Amino acid sequence: MSGSFTEQRNELSHLASESCHLRQAFKDDAQRAQRYTTRACGITLDYAKNLINDASWRALQQLAANSNISKLREQMLQGAAINNTEQRAVWHTRLRQQDVTGLMLDGEDIGQQITECRARMAALIDTLHQQQYLGYQGSPITDLIWVGIGGSLLGPQMAVEALTPYHCSPVKLHFAGNIDGAVVSDILNGLHPATTLVVVASKSFGTEETKQNALAIRQWFTEHGADKAAIAHHFWATSSNIAAAAEFGIEQKNILPMWDWVGGRYSLWSAIGLPIALMIGNQQFKQLLAGAEAMDQHFFSAPFSENMPVIMALLGVWYINGHGCQAHALLPYSHYLRLLPSYVQQLDMESNGKSVNRQGHALPYATAPVIWGDAGTNGQHAYHQLLHQSALAVPADFILPLKVKHPLKDQHSRLAAHCFAQTQALMQGKTLAEATAECVAQGMTEQQAAALAPHKVSPGNKPSNTLLLPELSPYYLGALIALYEHKVFCQGAIWQLNSFDQWGVELGKQLSGPIYQALTGNGSNNFDSSTAALIKQFLAAQNS
Ligand code: F6P
Repeated sequence: MSGSFTEQRNELSHLASESCHLRQAFKDDAQRAQRYTTRACGITLDYAKNLINDASWRALQQLAANSNISKLREQMLQGAAINNTEQRAVWHTRLRQQDVTGLMLDGEDIGQQITECRARMAALIDTLHQQQYLGYQGSPITDLIWVGIGGSLLGPQMAVEALTPYHCSPVKLHFAGNIDGAVVSDILNGLHPATTLVVVASKSFGTEETKQNALAIRQWFTEHGADKAAIAHHFWATSSNIAAAAEFGIEQKNILPMWDWVGGRYSLWSAIGLPIALMIGNQQFKQLLAGAEAMDQHFFSAPFSENMPVIMALLGVWYINGHGCQAHALLPYSHYLRLLPSYVQQLDMESNGKSVNRQGHALPYATAPVIWGDAGTNGQHAYHQLLHQSALAVPADFILPLKVKHPLKDQHSRLAAHCFAQTQALMQGKTLAEATAECVAQGMTEQQAAALAPHKVSPGNKPSNTLLLPELSPYYLGALIALYEHKVFCQGAIWQLNSFDQWGVELGKQLSGPIYQALTGNGSNNFDSSTAALIKQFLAAQNS
């Protein structure tokens, strides 16, 4: 496979059109699982239940070799401005590097900045854990509200949830995202400002949702008699826009840094990870970083044929550009990982949901899939029906921690049984002959069996990956997140786009300004007829 990705894509489509029957492939090759399984940082990826054979897998490997992955990976490591539309380096991997001594970027001692930030975060957390952070009325802080959205919220929220068994904080944590006033109103119910710390997490410190939520909380402080000094004592920020944070009333000593070289959706390794460190403690937070660093080392050094992020990226490209799939399901068989799909949604779709290449030229092929999913087994009683029997092909990642901390071990075996059974059912399906025999065995007449059996047929041949984690610990969670980050990176490299900007989200933000003016009676309702009618109806409801 050679030439531009456009040419290679044609070859992928051609290869994909050649039939591959997974049920038969497993019968023909007892070593299939062994051949298509790889391991990294303790994580196992079984990708044998994918629509690949020797020829297509060789072609995909060749695609990786011909792609930009190696070059871009090296440029990322060197701190080149691979986020070319914003002229920024992409260095989130440096944030999990244990030893950052002497790390320089554009003449700045980044290593020292990272070290200082880590120390300030750890000190704040220790003080909170020891209940020595006293509020403006002298009582210890009991609650922390984390105000942010997108990359400044999804990562910590997902990881905090995922690591529930490791929670050790005496301080309760509340996440306030979304401009819907219900979120902050609900959080403030039952809290008191004198025992509440607020962290405004916004890289830009200009995001409307975060600003409005922060203003509402500041107002609540004022209404409870907190003066300027009290508010300054209770508000922290994590931001790269020190001036805007200071203008809001946050003191410099309470501002933890963010850097231009860390994209929002890649930032949970920075001070954006503070809620994680708060909930699991500083030592376990280090383990999260260590797991991610181990996956970085694997990604940077393993040959492509064994490189887990590369393999997952190739399979994704295979389905999107070879088979025409448009979606990818993420199905964690772990209650604690139930927010992983929403986290990866931003990671993947905001990174690679693009239609121009790095030079701004239109891409003649599809890129990122629609990522969706939820925790198993709940999905089995909802959308798995479509996975099994609809004509749509939705490749899926099944994720299972092997060991759990809760005492209901038999239920864990049952959960695992369902996880494995789903991948097996998707792969092998059920033929008409099998469905008919099943009906007859249940006592139906031949006629009854013939009528019902077609409804029971599952075509099978539906692809899936299975990822096994030894356990859902901070270390393996760090490795898992880094795995998905690097998968997205490789796909962006193959599709020749910039995975690190997100210009598409701007238009909606721009248009909401004049609409807000119209909704509040300060602007004209001079929009297209649909938008104008919606505004009119909203205004009528407010005035009724
Ligand atoms: O709207 C998109 C976005 O810019 C994300 O990329 C980012 O993670 C999020 O908004 C929040 O941005 P900030 O941290 O600057 O408030």
